[in-house]
Amino acid sequence: MIEAWSDIPIVEAHDIRKTYRTGFWLNQPVTTLSGVSLSVRSGETFGLLGPNGAGKTTLLKILLGIATASSGRGTLLGRPLGDRAAKQRVGYLPESAYFYDHLTGWEYLEQAAALFQIPRPIAHKRIVELLHWVELPESAARKKLMKQYSKGMLQRVGMAQALINDPEVIFLDEPMSGLDPIGRHQFREILLELRQRGKTIFFNSHILSDVEQLCDRVAILNKGELLCVGSLDELLGPGSSYRVKGRGGKADSLASWLRDFDLQGDYWTGSLKGDPAAFMAAAVTMGAQVLGLNMQRPSLEDFFVQLVRDRGVQPQ
Ligand SMILES: Nc1ncnc2c1ncn2[C@@H]1O[C@H](COP(=O)(O)OP(=O)(O)OP(=O)(O)O)[C@@H](O)[C@H]1O
Ligand SMILES: [Mg+2]
Repeated sequence: MIEAWSDIPIVEAHDIRKTYRTGFWLNQPVTTLSGVSLSVRSGETFGLLGPNGAGKTTLLKILLGIATASSGRGTLLGRPLGDRAAKQRVGYLPESAYFYDHLTGWEYLEQAAALFQIPRPIAHKRIVELLHWVELPESAARKKLMKQYSKGMLQRVGMAQALINDPEVIFLDEPMSGLDPIGRHQFREILLELRQRGKTIFFNSHILSDVEQLCDRVAILNKGELLCVGSLDELLGPGSSYRVKGRGGKADSLASWLRDFDLQGDYWTGSLKGDPAAFMAAAVTMGAQVLGLNMQRPSLEDFFVQLVRDRGVQPQ
C-alpha cells in the first residue's frame, strides 16, 4: 500500500532517555528524559510544550543529533539520529543563539551557507531573499556587528540562518522569544508560509496562543515524561459548543435555545444547545439580534495549566 503523504514519519523517537551526570565527580545523575516516544509526520507543524526544565531543549538536541540519548532510538528523515546526510536537510534555530558577536549578520549567514557548501553567488541571492523574508534590513545585516543587535534582530538573523539550506524539516527552540507583538506576528506568518510550502516544523514554545494558532499537533512534556500528544481537537475537544451573545427578542424563546441564559437589561448571553444555523434563523423570527457566536472550548493555556497543576509541577 502506498503511504499517504502526511503519514510519512519525518521524526521518530522511541523510548528516549537522557541522564546527565553532574557534580564535581560527575556522580550525581539528573534524569532529564524518561522514556519519550513520539512521531512527527511529513508536513506537520508540531509543538512541544512544557514548563521550564521539562526537557524540551534536551529532546530537540537529541533529535537533531547534537546531544546523544542515554538510551532509546530514533530517526530523522528516515535516517538514524545524528546521520550527517539527514542534517543537510534540516534547519535549526537554537534557544540561546550562540551567535558570533564579532561578525555582521551578513557574514554570519555567509558562514552558515558555507557549512552547507552552498556556492557563494547562490548563497548571496538566498541571503537577500531570507533577510527580506525575516524583515531584517539588508543595511543592518551588512553594517552592524551582531553584538549591536537587539534580541529581535538576533532572532530574525537566527531564523534566516535556520532556513539558509531550504530545509525540509525545521526545528525551532522558542522561536518567538524576544520578539515584540509585531515580530511575533511576522514569525507566525513565516511559519504558516513554511507550512504551506510543505515543510515539517517542530517547535518548542511557551507562548501557548502561538502554538494554538500554528500547530497541527501538540505534545506536553513534564519532568522528562510525555503527558499527552494529539491534535487540539483531540486534547481540547472538538469545540462543538457555541457561546452566543445578543440583544432583544423574547426571553422565553431564547431561553429554550440557550443553556445558562443570562439577561442583563436588553443584552443576553448563553450557550447554544442546537445547530448554529438553525438558531440564527430562529433569532430573526424572535426579533433578536445576534452580536456574537463563538466556538467554546478550553484554551490550550487552560488545558496546559490544569494538566501541570494536577501533576504538581514545579520549574526545575
Ligand atoms: N548539559 C547539562 N548538564 C546537566 N543538566 C542539564 C544539562 N542540560 C540540561 N540539563 C538539565 O536538564 C533539565 C531539562 O533541561 P532543558 O533545557 O532540556 O529544559 P527545557 O524544557 O528546555 O526548559 P526551558 O523551558 O527553561 O527552556 C533541567 O533540569 C536542566 O537543568
Ligand atoms: Mg529549553
